[in-house]
Amino acid sequence: MNSMDLPWKSAWVTGAGRGIGAEVARLLCRNGVTVYGSARTTEQLELLQQELAECSGKLIVVPLDIRDLAAVQEQFNMWDSEGILPDLVVLNAGSHDPFSAAEFSAQRCKALLDINLQGTANCLEPILYRYLGRVSEQATGESDRVFIPELKGHIAVVSSVAGYRGLPTAAAYGAGKAALINLCESLYLDLQGTGVRIQLINPGFVRTPLTDKNEFPMPALMEPDEAARRIVQGLLSKRFEIVFPRRFVYWLKLFRLLPYSWYFKLIGRATGAGKNV
Ligand SMILES: NC(=O)c1ccc[n+]([C@@H]2O[C@H](COP(=O)([O-])OP(=O)(O)OC[C@H]3O[C@@H](n4cnc5c(N)ncnc54)[C@H](OP(=O)(O)O)[C@@H]3O)[C@@H](O)[C@H]2O)c1
Repeated sequence: MNSMDLPWKSAWVTGAGRGIGAEVARLLCRNGVTVYGSARTTEQLELLQQELAECSGKLIVVPLDIRDLAAVQEQFNMWDSEGILPDLVVLNAGSHDPFSAAEFSAQRCKALLDINLQGTANCLEPILYRYLGRVSEQATGESDRVFIPELKGHIAVVSSVAGYRGLPTAAAYGAGKAALINLCESLYLDLQGTGVRIQLINPGFVRTPLTDKNEFPMPALMEPDEAARRIVQGLLSKRFEIVFPRRFVYWLKLFRLLPYSWYFKLIGRATGAGKNV
């Protein structure tokens, strides 16, 4: 891929150890960005760091469990003491655990929501606090510091098209992703005029360790490097929502408009839903 002229000097990518997050980290690093890469598995981050050692940017390994709010806050306190505040934050870390109605478990539901929804919120709190508190020196050069609504920070949240409408065996995953979509829409409105930008990323199927466990054929399956390219291109655009592969997602958007009777019939036919119960 040709080199890209990126506006960010530094970025924090959660879930950077493998899959989509690792590819986003690669792409950013190869184009000069210092990437703080987070995940729980340090070895995967260290391998990525070695791989990217010769890049124009660099990867800094930041082991972190996003379910642990205190640990996330502690990381930000450490960054504060070193004068670090990433310009871009890609909140990508997530997990999936498909189960049917017959296997429904409150504990499995909570485990997924703790990562996908609450984990993302745990990251948003300290970053929003800092971005919204960012002040600029007045042009006069006087020591008075004023709030100027210029770009203070850029946040991207990875949700999923699974958050558009209910899908079979995805009650917990879809609920968390639907909540993230709604959360980002709310924040987008709240952040108007503050200089803090938020974007929503809704991928279709991407080949990663997360989808490798799917036993059904995945329509329009995309390779993770291509997904990362679409994400970074989307981050450079003015769009709120970044979606891919486009044609697949546009069908799903159309499905969102259908009355329940049509939707359940079509999705049931396409997925064989009901056979898992
Ligand atoms: N692949 C797809 O088709 C697809 C489609 C739509 C949306 N998405 C979303 O895209 C994101 C990335 O998915 P992926 O397919 O790349 O998944 P993946 O290959 O399983 O990678 C997930 C990454 O998140 C990290 N992670 C998981 N739990 C974490 C935690 N508690 N704290 C910190 N990091 C954690 C994992 O590292 P550790 O386990 O080492 O912590 C890993 O680095 C997810 O939010 C997923 O829901 C994926």
